[in-house]
Amino acid sequence: MVDIKNLVVVGAGQMGHGIGQMALMAGYNVTLVDIKDEFVDKGWNKIDEGMKKLEAKGTLPGGKSAADFMANCKKSIDLASAVKDADIMIEAVIEKMDVKQQVFRTCGENAPAHCIFASNTSTMSITDIGKESGRPDKCIGMHFFNPVPLMRLIEVIYSEHSSDESIDIGMEFAKSIPCLRGERYIAKVLRDRPGFICNRVTAPPQIYQNYIFDRCAEEGISWDQLDNDARTGPMSITVLADYVGIDVLYHGQMYYSQTLSPDFAPGKVVTKLFNEGKLGMKTGQGFRDWSKGRPEPDKSAGKARIYKMKYPIAIMLNEACRLLEEGVTTSWEVIDKTLMAGMNMPGPMAANVNTWQKQVEVLNELVELTGKEYFKPSELLKSGKWVDMK
Ligand SMILES: NC(=O)c1ccc[n+]([C@@H]2O[C@H](COP(=O)([O-])OP(=O)(O)OC[C@H]3O[C@@H](n4cnc5c(N)ncnc54)[C@H](O)[C@@H]3O)[C@@H](O)[C@H]2O)c1
Repeated sequence: MVDIKNLVVVGAGQMGHGIGQMALMAGYNVTLVDIKDEFVDKGWNKIDEGMKKLEAKGTLPGGKSAADFMANCKKSIDLASAVKDADIMIEAVIEKMDVKQQVFRTCGENAPAHCIFASNTSTMSITDIGKESGRPDKCIGMHFFNPVPLMRLIEVIYSEHSSDESIDIGMEFAKSIPCLRGERYIAKVLRDRPGFICNRVTAPPQIYQNYIFDRCAEEGISWDQLDNDARTGPMSITVLADYVGIDVLYHGQMYYSQTLSPDFAPGKVVTKLFNEGKLGMKTGQGFRDWSKGRPEPDKSAGKARIYKMKYPIAIMLNEACRLLEEGVTTSWEVIDKTLMAGMNMPGPMAANVNTWQKQVEVLNELVELTGKEYFKPSELLKSGKWVDMK
């Protein structure tokens, strides 16, 4: 196997700088590439800031200083020359297919033959991204979670053409990347399917959410009343949607509607907010007004009693069974561990080993309620055979 020393990170934004920082801490030489000096500088400075914070806390590894690590971090706006001595390249540019393909093409023309090309795309096909690289066997997915230093999960993904050796190198490399909060978990994703594992299992509950948003709008139920129903974690449902970003939800749902099922198409409420540019926290207005900071739902509005937690749980169990059917993974334990490492939430499988028949009923009830065919229980769920695929 190749001895990896030099990493090139393309795209010095939110993900790129996080990947760069953790790779430096693992001892790699990192070159950060972007399209303009100001963007590379911004990424480099953020890494430097992160390193200095750890230095102040005394938690940098090997007794080294921030400056010691930063001495191994180069900057470039010339991808072709930056990849000349790269052993691995991780692409973290904007989520646009043609931009990603161009990066892979340039790397294919300039990187040494042994160099592995990885994409950090959240949604797109690794096979398509790598197809013009001239070395599709060396192209893989390497999907980090935000923020990279703190989120434990990395998904390493086979494209249709990735060689086993490229995946093995990717797995070894991913395992070597430290995490500041707990131990890394690396999920091997055996097929290039939309959303891979973590984002895929958590995608179809959005179909149910859209149904609920639209029903609330039709029936005159306020967002406060809905939020008093549906506070599952630190944030209630509309506040969380605003926090994630209405545009992120909209684009994600459009993508899944084209690749998985038309049932994913954004609902009326989300589409209206998107078209009006009310994108949530980032624009100060979405479902909620963010001009005075994070909004708190008004408890005195009472509960709508419309949102039922039993549905998202059954939906995720069904989706996880689809992943097993499609061969994205062969083990339901991997799905549970992936969700815990990527979302800090327990996966749907272990909890349903003895209760899946009940979930089949819940899903049938949901099809009746919403008219969405996508909620039909999958064959594998109905057979109960998934329980043995531990
Ligand atoms: N932000 C997240 O939560 C998250 C999580 C997992 C994966 N991702 C994926 O990671 C990728 C990057 O996301 P981000 O949030 O870091 O975006 P970002 O907008 O913060 O950063 C993208 C960077 O890429 C640069 N860029 C654009 N075209 C380029 C080119 N041709 N060459 C070099 N650099 C170029 C931009 O200037 C920008 O600095 C996307 O594919 C995204 O889907 C994002």
